[in-house]
Amino acid sequence: MNSSPIGVFDSGIGGITVLAKAIKLLPEEKFIYFGDSANAPYGIKEADSVIYLTLKAADFLLQKGIKALVVACNTATSVAIETLRISLGIPIIGMEPALKPAVETGRGGTVVVMATPLTLKEKKFKSLMEMYSSKTNIIALPCPGLVELIESGVWEGSQIKRYLSERFSGLNTNEVTDIVLGCTHYIFIKDQIIELFNSKIRVIDGNEGTVRQLRRVLASKGLYKQDMQSPLFDQSLPEFYFSSSKDKVLNLCKQWMEKQINSR
Ligand code: DGL
Repeated sequence: MNSSPIGVFDSGIGGITVLAKAIKLLPEEKFIYFGDSANAPYGIKEADSVIYLTLKAADFLLQKGIKALVVACNTATSVAIETLRISLGIPIIGMEPALKPAVETGRGGTVVVMATPLTLKEKKFKSLMEMYSSKTNIIALPCPGLVELIESGVWEGSQIKRYLSERFSGLNTNEVTDIVLGCTHYIFIKDQIIELFNSKIRVIDGNEGTVRQLRRVLASKGLYKQDMQSPLFDQSLPEFYFSSSKDKVLNLCKQWMEKQINSR
C-alpha cells in the first residue's frame, strides 16, 4: 500500500499548483492527477452538483489504486469533504482558504480572501470568518469568471489585469496588507495580483500547509513511503488525466510546475 500513488483532484488545472508543492516536499511519492475540466468551473454550481462530481472524480482515482486523496480544490472541499470521508476508505486531505496564517502572522491591515462564490457561501468559510473576523478586518471577495480565464491559459496580459482591477475597484486598497488565495487556480496569477498592489501586499495560499498535512496523515497511518526504509525513490512523473482535452494549457502548467519544483 505504501508504494501506491496519491491521488490529487481539482475541477481543472488549479490543483496542479498543489501537485507541484507535493512533488517538491514528497519527492519519493508517486502522484496521479485528475482535473474535471469538462465540468469546470465548480465555484458557480449548486453544492449538490459539486458533491456528485467530486464523488465521481474520487471514484475514478480510487480505481487507479490510490492510497490517499488530496482534494486540491477549496470549492470541492467546502461542500464535499464530509461525504468523501464517509464514503471512501482512504485518508482524504482537503483545503481551505489560509485565513488562519494570514491573520495570525498578518500586519494588521485588511485581509482580502479571493475565492469562488460557492466557497465563500458555504458553512466552512462562514465558521472561519466567525473565528477570525474579531481579530482583523476581513473582506471576502468572490471572483466569478476568473477560473474560466485561468483554465483557458490566460494567466497574464491585459485581460487578467482588467479583471483584477475591476474586482478590487470597490475596495479601499490602501488598507489591504494581505491577500489570501482561496482557490488553487489563482496561484497561477499570483504575480499579477502582487503587481496590481505594487508589491506592497503579501499573498498567501494554503498549498504548503495542505502538503504538510498530507505528510502528517500518511506518516500517522504508516502510509508514508519513506517509512518503508527502501532505497527506492520513485522518480516517475505524475500521471495526468482530464475529463476534457487540455493539451495546450497542460504544457503551460507543466512548464510552470517544473519552475516551481526547481526553485529553492
Ligand atoms: N481550484 C478550485 C478551487 O480551489 C476552483 C473551483 C472552480 O472550478 O470554480 O476552488
